Amino acid sequence: MIFTGPADKLPRFLTEVRMRQPLVAGNWKMNGSKSGVAELLAGVKAGAGSIARAEVAVCPPYVFLPMTAAALAGSTVRWGAQNLSTETAGAYTGEVAASMLKDFGCTYVIVGHSERRTLYGEDDAIVARKFAVARAAGLKPILCVGETLEEREQSVTEQVVARQLDAVIEREGVAALADGVIAYEPVWAIGTGRTATPEQAQEVHAFIRARIADRDAAVAAGLRILYGGSMNAGNAAELLAKPDIDGGLIGGASLKAPDFLAICQAADASL
Ligand code: 13P
Repeated sequence: MIFTGPADKLPRFLTEVRMRQPLVAGNWKMNGSKSGVAELLAGVKAGAGSIARAEVAVCPPYVFLPMTAAALAGSTVRWGAQNLSTETAGAYTGEVAASMLKDFGCTYVIVGHSERRTLYGEDDAIVARKFAVARAAGLKPILCVGETLEEREQSVTEQVVARQLDAVIEREGVAALADGVIAYEPVWAIGTGRTATPEQAQEVHAFIRARIADRDAAVAAGLRILYGGSMNAGNAAELLAKPDIDGGLIGGASLKAPDFLAICQAADASL
């Protein structure tokens, strides 16, 4: 039987089945050289052939996008950028527009990463604008949210994550989230080797999904929420086993093809 009614009227048994395709995306940050990137791309491309169900993506620095597009053409691996301009074209020295990323075949673009929020002063309004311009250009924004250690210790994790989410929802509307992906990245877990426990991560992922479900149950049910922060081959499977963790945004472990592919395998097996 094909159900043709509105998505939020889907029979309960259907909405409870996990239908979200896992996504594992590598955020290479400011790492790489032409020769190293060529080797990494070749390794990821070769290994991705055995990833049957999960989606795999890499986000290299801008300058490597042309060679990434060339190397990954004809493979199932997608690529994206780590940042984009709030503006669409013109006199903005040093900036890169959403349309340029689209032109180079990007599927994704990361917005609101904590390194950009803290080191480059990107506030919620800037992040929301970047989400908007990415979406308008047909890119899928990966919206990063997450609390600092201080905020966790003050028990304001939910308020922080809610504020970061709401900035986008208020600007673009809740339905806009369906065009992107969310990444929960606790700042204290990024690059520290200190991963959130699966329970800690699941708690925040469930909070994010519930907050979105309050506004639109169908958007919440379909939305992929990735975990990021010291995720690696050793801890990926137990994080991905949690019901609201739909993949990973991987920093350090995405710089070596075997490590990254092991996480992709874990995502594949999590379905
Ligand atoms: P690490 O995996 O190196 O902790 O980085 C996570 C991250 O910031 C991905 O965007």
